[in-house]
Amino acid sequence: MPYPSRSDELLFFVNGRKVIERNADPEVTLLNFLRKNRTLCLTGTKYACGRGGCGACTVMVSKHDPMSRKIRHFSVTACLVPICSLHGAAVTTVEGVGSIKTRLHPVQERIAKSHGTQCGFCTPGMVMSMYTLLRNHPQPSEEQLMEALGGNLCRCTGYRSILAGGRTFCMESNGCQQKETGKCCLDQGENDSSSLDRKSDICTELFAKEEFQPLDPTQELIFPPELLRMAENPEKRTLIFYGERVTWISPGTLKDLLELKGKHPEAPLILGNTSLGPTMKSQGHFHPILLSPARIPELSTVTKTSDGLTIGAGCSLAQMRDILAERILELPEEKTQTFRALLKHLPHLAGQQIRNMASLGGHIISRHCYSDLNPVLAVGNATLNLISEEGSRQIPLNEYFLAGLASADLRPKEILESVHIPHSRKWEFVSAFRQAQCQQNALPDVNAGMRVLFKEGTDTIEDLSVAYGGVGAATICAQKSCQQLLGRRWNELMLDEACRLLLDEVSLPGSAPGGRVEFRRTLVVSFLFKFYLEVLQELKKPLKLLSVPDSRRYPEIPDRFLSALEDFPLTIPQGVQTYQSVTPHQPLQDPVGRPIMHLSGLKHATGEAIFCDDIPMVDKELFMALVTSTRAHAKIISIDSAEALELPGVVDVITAEDIPGTNGAEDDRLLAVDEVFCVGQIICAVVAETDVQAKQAIEMIKITYEDLEPVIFTIEDAIKHNSFLCPEKRLEQGNIEEAFEKADQIVEGEVHVGGQEHFYMETQRVLVIPKTEDKELDIYVSTQDPAHVQKTVSSTLNVPINRITCHVKRVGGGFGGKVGRPAVFGAIAAVGAVKTGHPIRLVLDREDDMLITGGRHPLFGKYKVGFMNNGRIKAMDVECYINGGCTLDDSEMVTEFLILKMENAYKIRNLRFRGRACMTNLPSNTAFRGFGFPQGTLVTESCITAVAAKCGLLPEQIREKNMYKTVDKTIYKQAFNPETLIRCWNECLDKSSFHSRRMQVEEFNKKNYWKKKGIAIIPMKFSVGFAATSYHQAAALVHIYTDGSVLVTHGGNELGQGIHTKMLQVASRELKIPMSYMHICETSTATVPNTVATAASIGADVNGRAVQNACQILLKRLEPIIKKNPEGTWEDWIEAAFEQRISLSATGYFRGYKAFMDWEKGEGDPFPYYVYGAACSEVEIDCLTGAHKKIRTDVVMDACCSLNPAIDIGQIEGSFIQGMGLYTTEELKYSPEGVLYSRSPDEYKIPTINDVPEEFNVSLLPSSHTPLTIYSSKGLGESGMFLGSSVFFAIADAVATARRERDLAEDFTVRSPATPERVRMSCADRFTEMIPRDDPKTFKPWSIPIA
Ligand SMILES: Cc1cc2nc3c(=O)[nH]c(=O)nc-3n(C[C@H](O)[C@H](O)[C@H](O)COP(=O)(O)OP(=O)(O)OC[C@H]3O[C@@H](n4cnc5c(N)ncnc54)[C@H](O)[C@@H]3O)c2cc1C
Ligand code: FES
Ligand code: FES
Repeated sequence: MPYPSRSDELLFFVNGRKVIERNADPEVTLLNFLRKNRTLCLTGTKYACGRGGCGACTVMVSKHDPMSRKIRHFSVTACLVPICSLHGAAVTTVEGVGSIKTRLHPVQERIAKSHGTQCGFCTPGMVMSMYTLLRNHPQPSEEQLMEALGGNLCRCTGYRSILAGGRTFCMESNGCQQKETGKCCLDQGENDSSSLDRKSDICTELFAKEEFQPLDPTQELIFPPELLRMAENPEKRTLIFYGERVTWISPGTLKDLLELKGKHPEAPLILGNTSLGPTMKSQGHFHPILLSPARIPELSTVTKTSDGLTIGAGCSLAQMRDILAERILELPEEKTQTFRALLKHLPHLAGQQIRNMASLGGHIISRHCYSDLNPVLAVGNATLNLISEEGSRQIPLNEYFLAGLASADLRPKEILESVHIPHSRKWEFVSAFRQAQCQQNALPDVNAGMRVLFKEGTDTIEDLSVAYGGVGAATICAQKSCQQLLGRRWNELMLDEACRLLLDEVSLPGSAPGGRVEFRRTLVVSFLFKFYLEVLQELKKPLKLLSVPDSRRYPEIPDRFLSALEDFPLTIPQGVQTYQSVTPHQPLQDPVGRPIMHLSGLKHATGEAIFCDDIPMVDKELFMALVTSTRAHAKIISIDSAEALELPGVVDVITAEDIPGTNGAEDDRLLAVDEVFCVGQIICAVVAETDVQAKQAIEMIKITYEDLEPVIFTIEDAIKHNSFLCPEKRLEQGNIEEAFEKADQIVEGEVHVGGQEHFYMETQRVLVIPKTEDKELDIYVSTQDPAHVQKTVSSTLNVPINRITCHVKRVGGGFGGKVGRPAVFGAIAAVGAVKTGHPIRLVLDREDDMLITGGRHPLFGKYKVGFMNNGRIKAMDVECYINGGCTLDDSEMVTEFLILKMENAYKIRNLRFRGRACMTNLPSNTAFRGFGFPQGTLVTESCITAVAAKCGLLPEQIREKNMYKTVDKTIYKQAFNPETLIRCWNECLDKSSFHSRRMQVEEFNKKNYWKKKGIAIIPMKFSVGFAATSYHQAAALVHIYTDGSVLVTHGGNELGQGIHTKMLQVASRELKIPMSYMHICETSTATVPNTVATAASIGADVNGRAVQNACQILLKRLEPIIKKNPEGTWEDWIEAAFEQRISLSATGYFRGYKAFMDWEKGEGDPFPYYVYGAACSEVEIDCLTGAHKKIRTDVVMDACCSLNPAIDIGQIEGSFIQGMGLYTTEELKYSPEGVLYSRSPDEYKIPTINDVPEEFNVSLLPSSHTPLTIYSSKGLGESGMFLGSSVFFAIADAVATARRERDLAEDFTVRSPATPERVRMSCADRFTEMIPRDDPKTFKPWSIPIA
């Protein structure tokens, strides 16, 4: 078969527009193509991880299916789709769905109007997942909606609002969010926003669904007729696309494919690219030839045979799921055991997009050790139908194949054509198990497939197969153990023996990659136990059906054990959001207090909202990539850039020597000089013509190091080495020693809280454009603090601040992570821009972002509490250490906040809090939502739990007893009134029916041994603001133009928290004109100078005051004109004002709250005010796997008079879910050399849509006021974070119950997050006792704990 010398034309459609690529490069992904192609420039599709793990890049692909002769629409992650795979396909991006300029699609409208967007970075992906679902199912079920969104991450909203928009399309939904609770707002006449105001002042609707335009499927883009014609007369010719380094060959027939495979045996077949793609990216695998079998129909054939099902290797996992589901309905249950087991795993395997892309063949051949399907296929005796030019043959999918043994594997020239999965037989049972960090879209820690066949009518084992994933380099089949159990009866003796044999055969060394060794060992036997019980149940069924009286010949399963059998189902969250409406007297025009949609909501949903990297390429732009240290502490001996500079496209290498001004601080360099202090520290940067060239070049830079001592990673080591970043912070009141002496009891314990990655969806990005004159520089940057970027760039370049302008249009999530770090990236890019004279774009990969930037400080706390037997705490002494990493950054402030806030809601007369920030050889940790409060207060609440356990009382009793009750002073002597705190607590108790549910939990726990429920209610007193007066200031600039339109500018940055929306609400109230007159363009250092970071929950407070001030100044100027012509319109007044030479521009200023703290005296007024709240959560844990489900959460928060209840509820929900992530799933893993392993959404699990509590209610406390803030509102950006700990304490409650029942001692060492591993290992039982334990001295662990 001769190859053409020129590339074929690649033809596909994007949003109805034909795309012909004459030089298609197989290495280019659809995501890059859409974003970078100069004619398309479709930047609505976002990059957030590049690994298929987050869904930000979701688009819809439509293809004609030759088998069904139908058009198949499916969602994919564009970051993993090579453009060459799209020949003959139609791609729809968010821009093709609808636009503000033309017509909005109902999906876009509803997600925006239901307040399902905050920063908006995830929104296009969400829209595309929902849109694809609706293309296939115009009235989907709620389950389908949940599944469709399972692969899309959102770091801001907490998902509830996104679902609320989506479920308005669902058949079950009538759009009323209260319907599920039995009460319907329609019944109360609360269905339109005006009646909200009239009827009752408590509202439960945040949007009016009546306004939504209906979904009209006939309006959708049709499948291009040209593609239809192509599909109906498929070309059999082989297509070839030559790239610079890679050739893509797509044969049209099986014969040609086999010939090609014969010729290029080393070339992989590329199908979904979900395995090849990530390995090429992260492990640098390179394949010069890729064979695409996508056009070969034989690989998609499905055949039902008399003994099973043969599925083409090219079928996607989503198609496989449909095929299996269909077959299960057609066949008797006994024949479909293996199918059912596969079907059990499929919804949990990755997200919908990956299941749409990934092929069965690719899955099997990849043989990932974590494969969910291979263990089931192996025990189900699946066979692989192989084919090559030499003919076809079958091989079993068995342990030898899975282990990659050459004799049992494909031959180099063979391909997998299809997979045969046999029917199961009577007396045969197959099951599947998996446990991951969270339920969906997470790789399993361990999974298993198990099958047993009994001698007919008996419980004697005739055949047994058990296979595990995640416990070795490949799927492990426990053949030896199974052989030894043949002939045994299915009883407890067999179970014990089986566990012993399995633990022997499936051995996992202490140093095994992936860590969690003891947990994984435990799961090996826990899964077996579940299988044992499941089968026992099944065995009893036929006997029961036949009314065989002596079903007792099978061992009885006590009722209390039956709960071991149930897996937690994927459920659809429900809930009610309650807030107080505005008074009936408020003018309709006045938007303050109303649930106004985020100003950019619709633009987020259409992809028209521009983020930093969406700015089109500017003339002569170059790309920058960063070179980081691979050593934790070392001297830099040399940096050799010669080879990198030789590479095509490489323009320059920027080192510390190129910095004209200051290279950061002495102990916190922008670019390393001589010495590095952590893995991930930036050493130098490469500037090249493209991002690909820059990234290739950084690999070529050779740095030689000389390792230095000491190397410190853990808090424990830092304490040992006396390695601290700043002096101890300390607060004390009362006489602690005396109080301990008088206490009835004393308890001591430890608390370890892991760190947290910000995981903002938009990674750090900056575009620096040097101007030709006067050293001016424009910087477009994703930051919470443009003034800091400006200042840092100025000192780095040694030019005055007034030459540097920073622009922030919007930020795709910050959470504290974009306060300090963006200045570093801005400054390095600026050095590159000045040195080369070119604009520089720097966009961090997810991996680099996670590696370089620090996150939340891990904490280690020791406490000692003295208390009376009635639970009254007399004295508390807490000593905390946070892991600050290698530089100071915000660590001193975090330590201070930690100490100041640690008392939370409790009045304890004798207190001592001490805190220190440890200096370690890790990337520097920094600001993060809550700023120490979520970690420190976990210590306090853990003391409460410990006291409760010692007193034999319930934690809520101890909380109530020790809570502030009357006007009082905090530990730092700031006076406050806790009335609203008590109200929140009581209302939360009431709304959650806490006491009755506590009893129900106890009842449940008595009846169930393997599942336990837990419930907890947590109070909160959260102080907003910074402990320094200079931070509490803000300015605004308001212009009124001659047409009456108003441009508002202020010092706050739009991070998704809706600050711009709130500011226009303020301006609208003050100027008494509708918000439609107003606009906010961006935050810029040129319009409002010397701003403070948008952080500490007070952005809207202080900037709102500044906007108010500017508007009041303007209105005052207009007053005489208005008085003169009271009937005139706004436009008339503005025209008159202009005529009369009245300035229509004003600067507003807020000289904010006084805040100070005297650490010498331990006294001060560090915070302007407190936000109070309470949250109650109920969970259920699976003691055998450590999994948990969140049954219900009720949050009551004191927002006072919310400026915008939709935005504030969104902040509470989003931060609650983020907090829940901190305390349950988000776990940073470091190697013993200080390398962060968890650098992608695969390894670091933020909550997904399936982690939202089944019932999630949020209410804003009514009738609450504060005189201090604008319109008596409160800043709610951070406080909800800590309330996520209610889930942690509910889990702890369930674990404590399990431990009590098992006669295990109370454990006063608290470790957060409460991962499945920790939960499982705390619920010790006969299985945890069976597993081998390693002596820590005998092996090097895979990861080290840094808290
Ligand atoms: C974000 C994400 C989450 C995931 N989560 C999970 C999970 O939870 N559980 C799980 O089990 N897996 C998970 N996976 C892995 C996924 O199941 C596999 O990547 C996928 O099934 C591979 O299929 P593919 O078509 O994309 O293979 P490709 O990447 O296209 O190919 C993979 C390999 O298979 C070979 N190959 C493919 N087809 C054939 C054939 N017919 N004959 C011979 N060789 C062939 C190729 O040569 C190549 O070497 C996840 C993947 C991603 C990206
Ligand atoms: S960017 Fe593609 S899935 Fe995350
Ligand atoms: S709105 Fe979803 S990530 Fe910000």
